[in-house]
Amino acid sequence: SVNSGSPRDAAFIMENSSLIIIVPGYGMAAARAQHAVKELADVLRKKYNVSVKFAIHPVAGRMPGHMNVLLAEADVDYDDIFELKDINREFSEADAAYVIGANDITNPAAAHNPDSPLYGMPVLDVGAAKTVFFVKRSLAGGYSGADNPLFYAANTVMLFGDAKKMTEEIVQELEA
Ligand code: TAP
Repeated sequence: SVNSGSPRDAAFIMENSSLIIIVPGYGMAAARAQHAVKELADVLRKKYNVSVKFAIHPVAGRMPGHMNVLLAEADVDYDDIFELKDINREFSEADAAYVIGANDITNPAAAHNPDSPLYGMPVLDVGAAKTVFFVKRSLAGGYSGADNPLFYAANTVMLFGDAKKMTEEIVQELEA
């Protein structure tokens, strides 16, 4: 079983947070959600004084630098973007990780399960955040096809839907 939530649920947790780390993946690109993500970061900072950082995995998306290019296109400040090795320890201090259209790059089986196709790949430690939001349309696997045990974790809230639409709806809730 999984916990699933609504845009209102997500907004409630976010507006009461101090630090949120956004983790973009292939689905953000597929949904063209980068501008909505920038709006989300802006409203959290300006209206709720939340610190917002972006965490980029070296193979997020489908080509090198894929996420960096999209975030730059949306005018996300370069100083707010952190590579895996520089941010991984901060997830344990984050109130929430907002994982938008990412899957394999967060899969803890990569560290623990020798049978996983991802075994040996360093991953973003999103499960260490107090709450983990996964924005995706289903429980389907990503590029590797591997199941992600984090979807079933007690501190995970699945936000089922298109990455752009879901993020826009959360922004609307935060602006209301
Ligand atoms: P993935 O593991 O491929 O996961 C992307 C997730 O996005 C999917 O599980 C999918 O779930 C979701 N998604 C797709 N369209 C969406 C939409 N419109 N709205 C919301 N969610 C959507 O991506 P990742 O975490 O970025 O990892 C990258 C993977 O690609 C790694 O396995 C990596 O090795 C591989 N790869 C990377 C590269 C480079 S250089 N970046 C090159 C080749 C391969 P739903 O279907 O449930 O929505």
